[in-house]
Formats: sequence, structure tokens, C-alpha cells
Amino acid sequence: MEEQKPSVALVWGTGGIGSALAFRLLQQGKFERVVCVSRRAEVEVPDGAEFFAADFLDENSIKSVANGVRALGELQQVIVATGVLHTDEVQPEKSMRALSADNIEYVHRINCVGPVLVAKHLIPLMPLKKRVVFAAISARVGSISDNRLGGWHSYRASKASLNMMLKGLSIEWARKNPDSICVGLHPGTVDSALSEPFQTGVPAEKLFSPTHSAAMLVDTLDGLNGSDTGSVFDYAGKTVPA
Ligand SMILES: NC(=O)c1ccc[n+]([C@@H]2O[C@H](COP(=O)([O-])OP(=O)(O)OC[C@H]3O[C@@H](n4cnc5c(N)ncnc54)[C@H](OP(=O)(O)O)[C@@H]3O)[C@@H](O)[C@H]2O)c1
Repeated sequence: MEEQKPSVALVWGTGGIGSALAFRLLQQGKFERVVCVSRRAEVEVPDGAEFFAADFLDENSIKSVANGVRALGELQQVIVATGVLHTDEVQPEKSMRALSADNIEYVHRINCVGPVLVAKHLIPLMPLKKRVVFAAISARVGSISDNRLGGWHSYRASKASLNMMLKGLSIEWARKNPDSICVGLHPGTVDSALSEPFQTGVPAEKLFSPTHSAAMLVDTLDGLNGSDTGSVFDYAGKTVPA
């Protein structure tokens, strides 16, 4: 008989949505262990969660997380909840005049390269004969066919790029495990540091609390199966067009 290891879910990123997701997974009690990862060493995580500090742009630190998780149990679900829309130096572009190579590259590094490196090192830890999930928080504005307003060029492109990467990874992973699920998620407009400067004009009922969004995202993930892999789903479980 193979030894039963504790089931592990991991949430990478302890921002508004990431923290709420970790809390929700603990509350749900489906996984025996919940791991939070942040680049910030001094961060509060929900009671009962394990914690690793790592920077997802430092590949060695991702490998260290993988080693730590392997020792904790069997990794069955990963949600990458990191992302950047603005910083003190970077603002989403309102016009092509604002495009800068450095900013385009920076936003892609955080929104696409980081989550993909996490997939590279954590997907191989997951069992091959079980339903397993790798999800990264994307955004509806990453949909090319749904882009009617323009603007936010780098953010949109970085999420479209993330979605394509997830699609490619999903195909490769499904050959080894037909019950694997590799998806992007759109959380809705959520009251967090990322959206805070852009909330004007968002009707109150459309501005979700992180807790509300996290509960719906967890339900969405729980409703998916292997045939859903490669797509992007919103908080209500509907597919976001590519
Ligand atoms: N809020 C919304 O309305 C909304 C809408 C659509 C999509 N999303 C997406 O949802 C995800 C989570 O966003 P949120 O609303 O929770 O925002 P948030 O509160 O700002 O959290 C984002 C997290 O991303 C990580 N991060 C940011 N910059 C980073 C960097 N340079 N290097 C490494 N990690 C970095 C940080 O995690 P640590 O500090 O823990 O390392 C940060 O806490 C993002 O992918 C975002 O694009 C949000």
C-alpha cells in the first residue's frame, strides 16, 4: 500500500485576492494543508496556513518552495494570485504615446513570466492519476476578442500572453494526466490595492470584496474537470473568450 500523504493546496501571492483565497480554502477544509507564498517575509497569513517567502522572479526561490511543499504532502491545487497593473513608476497606458519598452517588459515579467515559472516547478509535483488543478488569476481584459475599449496595452497583452501559456501547458499536461486542469481565472472587479485607483464609476454591486470573489473562484474551480482545461473562467464559472 502506498503511503497516503496529506493533500496540499498552495496560493502564490498574499494580496487582496490571494489572502482571501487562502482563507477560503482553509475554511472549506478540503485540503489538509494550505500554503501561502509571498515575496514579503513579514506578511500575515490566515491562521492554520503554512508560509514560504519567495520571489517568483527568482527561479531558485521557486525551487526552494517546491522542495518545501514536497516535504509537506501531495500538492493537488495551485492558484497563482499575483499581478501588477500599476506601481509608483508604472501606470496602465491610456494611449500609444505612453508605451515604454521597460514598462511593457516589467508588466509581462510579473503577469506572465512569474506565474509560468511557478507552473514549471510546481506542476511536476502533482500526482498523475488524480484530479489536480493549476490556476492563475488572469483578467477579462486579456481577452483579445473582447477588447473594444483599447488602452491598458501592457496589462491586457501580459494577460493574453499568460492565457496562451496556460493553454500550451494544459495540452502538454493533459497528455500525462487527463484529469489535470490548467486554467486562467477572472475574479471580477475586486476591491484591492490593484484596482483601488480605478474604482470610480464601478457600480457598488459590481465591486466585489476579496472574500466574495475568492468564494466564487473556489466554487468555479471545484466545478471544473479535465475537459475544461486550457480555458479562462470568470467568477461565475462562465468561459471568457480568447
Ligand atoms: N482587483 C481586481 O479588480 C482584478 C481584476 C481582474 C484581475 N485581477 C487580477 O487578480 C490578481 C490579484 O490581484 P489583487 O487584486 O489581489 O491585487 P493586489 O492586492 O495588488 O495583489 C497582487 C499581488 O501580486 C504580487 N505582486 C505584485 N507585484 C509583484 C512583483 N513585482 N513581484 C512579485 N509579486 C508581485 C504581490 O504578492 P506578494 O506581495 O504576496 O508577493 C501582490 O500582493 C492579479 O493577477 C490581477 O491582475 C484583479
